[in-house]
Amino acid sequence: MSKRIDVTSHKTDDSFSYDIVITDGFRELGSLLEPVLKEGKKAALISDEQVYGLYGKEIEDILDEMGISCSVFVFAAGEESKNLDTVRDAYEFLIKNRFERRDVCIALGGGVVGDLTGFTAATYLRGISFIQIPTTLLAQTDSSIGGKTGVDFKHFKNMVGAFHQPLLCYMNMSTLKTLDRRQFLSGLGEVIKASLIKDEGFYNWIRSHFAEIDSLEHDALEEMIYRACVIKRDIVQRDPTEKGERALLNFGHTLGHAVEKCAGFSFFHGECVVLGMIAALYISMKRGYITETEYDEAYELFRSFGYTMKIGGLSKEEVIDAVRSDKKAEAGIVKFILSERIGSAVIVRDVTDQEMEEALDMIFE
Ligand SMILES: NC(=O)c1ccc[n+]([C@@H]2O[C@H](COP(=O)([O-])OP(=O)(O)OC[C@H]3O[C@@H](n4cnc5c(N)ncnc54)[C@H](O)[C@@H]3O)[C@@H](O)[C@H]2O)c1
Ligand SMILES: [Zn+2]
Repeated sequence: MSKRIDVTSHKTDDSFSYDIVITDGFRELGSLLEPVLKEGKKAALISDEQVYGLYGKEIEDILDEMGISCSVFVFAAGEESKNLDTVRDAYEFLIKNRFERRDVCIALGGGVVGDLTGFTAATYLRGISFIQIPTTLLAQTDSSIGGKTGVDFKHFKNMVGAFHQPLLCYMNMSTLKTLDRRQFLSGLGEVIKASLIKDEGFYNWIRSHFAEIDSLEHDALEEMIYRACVIKRDIVQRDPTEKGERALLNFGHTLGHAVEKCAGFSFFHGECVVLGMIAALYISMKRGYITETEYDEAYELFRSFGYTMKIGGLSKEEVIDAVRSDKKAEAGIVKFILSERIGSAVIVRDVTDQEMEEALDMIFE
């Protein structure tokens, strides 16, 4: 059994409509690719070494069975590869294999592969189609949905990019079984974030299904991924180019990013987002938006999943400086996302240094 979510928006000049399919194998992929890859189109399978080694052959076999000519471009796993050098190599690969506008790229992997493939597809020949086959929890619940693609430039994260929607987003949940536990938790941080900003019912569901999620139980994973995708889909449909509401997804990211950067990217993004959420929830509690009990419950949820709850070796000054110099700070004014209540978030621009310092006390050793 699989679940489907339709993503449609007519809000931009480029209206779009595609399906997210959530299932537990690659069985359905062939029939879903059929209408997309007909009439002699070629496919470029783009992946990283790790994911290609695990699942590449299965995808190649499916394409082979369909009689689709498939060329493979694989790069070293990790954020270090998400840059214009790899994009240039991908362009060369596509040119060498004579890819034309009607051909299709297939991104098999986590957010790095999805962002890089999406950006390559968005820009090669002014845009060719692409398909997402996300294999991390983060990619299945967040990065593969919504059409934000891009790469890092020098030390600036996601500095170069484009909006480019996929033709299909095919999620095989079984791939999460080979995912490292820390990677899983990193993605789960963003899932909990989605529930905290948009859906109190989902947040309570996560709290009550802690054990099933923690042990990757099938039904719980399916329900969780489905609900997280619906939240992201709804936001993307209403705000496809991040003019307003989509900014709420940055809950936990203001201080989270700063901590991530100041710690020299030694922690995973989602781990830092969790720290950032604890800080944002703390400020929300101090302002009287959420109760102390609600703050404690959220803290306990993160603790029970085994997240790093405190970080050492950073100075508050350095972290706050990093917040002010973030690319999302407009003229030095920091856009902070706070929890106005559980399941609802607001953008505020008046969080003081003192509030940030007190919140950092909660997450500093
Ligand atoms: N486009 C967006 O809207 C958006 C949103 C959030 C994050 N992102 C981006 O996503 C990226 C992070 O994505 P990520 O966390 O998926 O990282 P990732 O793609 O680097 O994957 C993490 C690691 O897990 C490995 N891996 C992937 N799937 C696996 C599997 N099933 N089994 C075993 N190993 C597997 C990868 O090889 C890699 O080493 C960042 O670059 C971030 O900027 C984009
Ligand atoms: Zn994030």
